[in-house]
Amino acid sequence: MGAGIAQVAAAGGASVLLADLEAEFVQRGLEGIRKNLDRAVEKGKLGAAQREATLGRIRTSTTAELLTLTPSPLPERERRPGAAHEGRRYTLEVDLVIEAIVEDLAVKQRLFRELDAAAAPTCVLATNTSSLSVGKIAEAVRDPGRVVGMHFFNPAPLMPLVEIIAGRASCAEALDFAFNAAKAWGKTPVRAKDTPGFIVNRVARGYYLEALRLLGEGVGGIDEIDQVMRVHGGFKMGPFELMDLVGLDVNLAVSTSVWEQMGRHPRFNPHEIQRQLVAAGHLGRKSGRGFYSYKDGHPLPAVPVARRSFSLPPLLLDAMREFCARAGCERAGATEQYVICRILAAILNEAAFAFGDGVATRADIDVAMIKGTNYPKGPLAWTEEIGPRTVRGVLKGFNDSYRDGRYSPAVMFAEC
Ligand SMILES: NC(=O)c1ccc[n+]([C@@H]2O[C@H](COP(=O)([O-])OP(=O)(O)OC[C@H]3O[C@@H](n4cnc5c(N)ncnc54)[C@H](O)[C@@H]3O)[C@@H](O)[C@H]2O)c1
Repeated sequence: MGAGIAQVAAAGGASVLLADLEAEFVQRGLEGIRKNLDRAVEKGKLGAAQREATLGRIRTSTTAELLTLTPSPLPERERRPGAAHEGRRYTLEVDLVIEAIVEDLAVKQRLFRELDAAAAPTCVLATNTSSLSVGKIAEAVRDPGRVVGMHFFNPAPLMPLVEIIAGRASCAEALDFAFNAAKAWGKTPVRAKDTPGFIVNRVARGYYLEALRLLGEGVGGIDEIDQVMRVHGGFKMGPFELMDLVGLDVNLAVSTSVWEQMGRHPRFNPHEIQRQLVAAGHLGRKSGRGFYSYKDGHPLPAVPVARRSFSLPPLLLDAMREFCARAGCERAGATEQYVICRILAAILNEAAFAFGDGVATRADIDVAMIKGTNYPKGPLAWTEEIGPRTVRGVLKGFNDSYRDGRYSPAVMFAEC
């Protein structure tokens, strides 16, 4: 991620210092950037001069070198009014540091403590964490006001979204600085509160977890569920294809982290099928097998379904028919409609919960899901299109059938 973010910033005109623990790791990151830029030139998306200019803006270093507390060899920069420089020079005379190291609170806090000492007080310290609390990371520094979250999506050069996360103490200036930097680099920043999964990693859980539950209940096979969501749901990739691409281990770690932080609410319960696949080393495309096997490059379903027949109460069937008619998938068969309703209603409900919890504005939740995960529509706008009462109808029907609180409608639906 670090190299991808460095590429984004350099392509956007910033002077970048890319650092890692060892010089060879940094070189590997730089090689990746070179390859990306070469590919863009070959495809005619980038001029050779732009490629050179971008590479020319990236210098490399090791973390130890960056953090040595010897006086900076850089000329003193122009100081911003009101900034407390304490009359000294800092090793890190930069405006912004974006940390993208291992997802471990203690390791990140140690680095932030060191960055705090090395970087000028005006420097904004950002973390790319996907699952840790920005506020907790900020506890390691003297002025937590300058710590913010800048959550990029993988691959950073291609994915437009950046979630700008306000920790408990993040100050408005630091948040605006991070927001404007992301914008200047051509990204789409949205603002979010420091809550489990922020926007995208929380609202997207339903896409994966409901698909896994449907598989576990024997409603359909992985290829069938993927196809329903692509063809009738309008999603670019089905949930199982997407988990294989992201990595089952990475996806499970996010589900588990959100589930733990949400007090183990049944909406976020990680699924046993995924746990078993991860334990067996079937991690998706990167290991050659996940939900699909990729032996000859062609994906073949690798997890069988133990098909079971099921019947639904007539009231729920009516609610599902209305939901699908309004969602534009009335031509789907009965089982397909069930799959769409379960998965889509879970996503729409979670977006409503996130909005109710004040995680972000309506507009930012919708933009985040379109730009961060390629959803065909923003979930809150989608709810308006289908009709909140109709969405509530299917949620209530599922809630009455399952009775474990998973489909309990968000407050937004109670009010419609
Ligand atoms: N991979 C993703 O899809 C993704 C998406 C969004 C956010 N993130 C977040 O970005 C961060 C990095 O993720 P990644 O997938 O790139 O991890 P990674 O393991 O591929 O890379 C981490 C890098 O950090 C370096 N590192 C470790 N400790 C360090 C230290 N103390 N000082 C300096 N460098 C150190 C490692 O050498 C390694 O090169 C994590 O916080 C992760 O949650 C990842």
